[in-house]
Amino acid sequence: MRRKIAAGNWKMFGTVADLSQIAAIATGADKAVDTLICPPATLIAAAAPHAAASFAIGGQDCHPLQSGAYTGEISALMLRDAGATHVIVGHSERRRDHAETNDLVRAKAGAALEAGLTAVICVGESLEQREAGITLDAITAELEASLPEGCVGGNTIVAYEPLWAVGTGLIPTPQQIAEVHGRIRAILRARFGHEAEMIRILYGGSVKASNAAEIFAAADVDGALVGGASLKAADFLPIIAALA
Ligand code: G3P
Repeated sequence: MRRKIAAGNWKMFGTVADLSQIAAIATGADKAVDTLICPPATLIAAAAPHAAASFAIGGQDCHPLQSGAYTGEISALMLRDAGATHVIVGHSERRRDHAETNDLVRAKAGAALEAGLTAVICVGESLEQREAGITLDAITAELEASLPEGCVGGNTIVAYEPLWAVGTGLIPTPQQIAEVHGRIRAILRARFGHEAEMIRILYGGSVKASNAAEIFAAADVDGALVGGASLKAADFLPIIAALA
């Protein structure tokens, strides 16, 4: 039985003043649902004291190595040291803006597992791939190449974020979401056997309180990775509640 999880990716939003939103989310979130907030790295240490059994703090990216002469980079070990327990890897904005390849994403996910973090591994098709009818092939290729060895329910979450749905207000139909999540589950089973049953699969892309219930009703959806609607407790708490 997989627990539902609502994850918030704050991207490059949030300053010290916004720690009050994290506090309000930690306090107000339904404890029957796991909640994860991934704020900017500058807020992780200050947010970490809010972590509890069903509330976690994560990073948004990590380096594939744990230390070294890499100016501006942050390692998975450093995230853990700051109080994070999770890290997003392979987000479409990293793949797009920093030319991150599947090989690099897999190395980052491996570094996360090595550091004892849970990796939230993101995959998603482009609009061109969706329109060409090759969504499942694209997801299969991307996910298979992005998964490190040793994924189990306790250290891996997969997030399906169609690129055309991120920040656009567009969302796939529940049938389209279920189809992709079913394929992701099949890939995980083929690779990790029974361990795959406990790996949670999240949908991400324009999730809001108004569409959350419909998305969460789709088969094999274990929760959501939410961008804009996770920044304010007033917006995020109803999404968490829709998972309870
Ligand atoms: O990682 C979450 C994200 O990419 C979705 O963003 O703003 O469409 O919910 P948003």
